[in-house]
Amino acid sequence: MNPDITFIRPALSVAPMMDCSDRHYRYFIRGITGCTYLYTEMVSTAAIVHGDRRWLLDFDRCEAPLALQIGGSDIDEAGEAVAAAEPWPYDEINLNVGCPSDRVQERGLGACLMLRPEHVARMVEAMRANTAKPVTVKHRIGVDELDRYEDLVRFVSVVREAGPARFTVHARIAWLEGLSPKENRNIPPLRYGDVYRLKRDFPELDIEINGHITSLADADEHLRRVNAVMIGRAAYDTPWIFSAADQFLDDRGIAGSCGARAMCNCRAVVIERMISYLQRWYRAGTPGRKIVRHMLGLFAGLPGARHWRRSLSGRLPDDCAPILRRMLEELPYESLTEPADDPPPVEAPKRADEATPAPQG
Ligand SMILES: Cc1cc2nc3c(=O)[nH]c(=O)nc-3n(C[C@H](O)[C@H](O)[C@H](O)COP(=O)(O)O)c2cc1C
Repeated sequence: MNPDITFIRPALSVAPMMDCSDRHYRYFIRGITGCTYLYTEMVSTAAIVHGDRRWLLDFDRCEAPLALQIGGSDIDEAGEAVAAAEPWPYDEINLNVGCPSDRVQERGLGACLMLRPEHVARMVEAMRANTAKPVTVKHRIGVDELDRYEDLVRFVSVVREAGPARFTVHARIAWLEGLSPKENRNIPPLRYGDVYRLKRDFPELDIEINGHITSLADADEHLRRVNAVMIGRAAYDTPWIFSAADQFLDDRGIAGSCGARAMCNCRAVVIERMISYLQRWYRAGTPGRKIVRHMLGLFAGLPGARHWRRSLSGRLPDDCAPILRRMLEELPYESLTEPADDPPPVEAPKRADEATPAPQG
């Protein structure tokens, strides 16, 4: 990050996902999109303060633009963690206020912090006091019985006083009792309307929407109402949807200050790039399965997808580069060389006499 240039974030991001959005996945997705904003998995503040920072925080330069997500509940520790991470060139530090897992709840962090907006505000203050980078918050529209729009407004009204640069809102409430994290990502109904309303009621805030957005066409719809869109599972399961992302962002003038472009124009080139990466990590002692497991969705929906998934699953040798080389020979040529997707067309602004009337009431 060049300190003389103000960094402006692209309006599309891949969500933080534990066990998924690690540095190997991020390197892989960078072959497909140069500009989409990326997040780390949640890293606990305690781990940053007491653990092996290089192992936790190092990343490849190509992963930028990249935000570090932290999870914690102790105000001083959050400040310390941010100070400790400051030498790493992340573009932003994000606080997790959305995760409902039992383990996270036991430590009083994640979604249960939504019950304590004043505390979250103090955490954001402590984080901001220790970094020059933007500090942002990722949260739910509500938690347990705090499930009304008014509760969301109260949370945001209190936390905004601490000056976060963005609110990323997962458009479902979290039920802390009785639902697993997976169920909490599927069962509570999606309420995109609450997020749109938040943006209307707080037009000065930077609001990013998240929750079951699975295509750039869907993202385009949301971007008419909010500042940015975050995509999680679809980015992991069907990564090629991001092959149109750089063009999508450019066409709409929402790439921010990111000028990066994807390095690969078809899946075969993505694989070639990952072969060199695998070799590098294999020489450093990392077994290939830790890397190729993130690539299973590369051929989703195409002929050869099953063969690809099977070949990269099960018991794998430590050196997986030969498997990828074999795939370049065995997968259908058309699947390997299919070009990047076309982004959805930019809809021309409507003339005043064509405009849809505003909803009444
Ligand atoms: C496997 C997995 C791990 C996740 N880990 C995190 C995490 O570390 N931090 C976080 O804020 N959210 C986490 N989430 C939630 C996602 O960031 C996102 O909010 C959620 O999946 C909804 O978006 P989607 O419907 O586009 O997947 C995780 C989601 C998944 C599927």
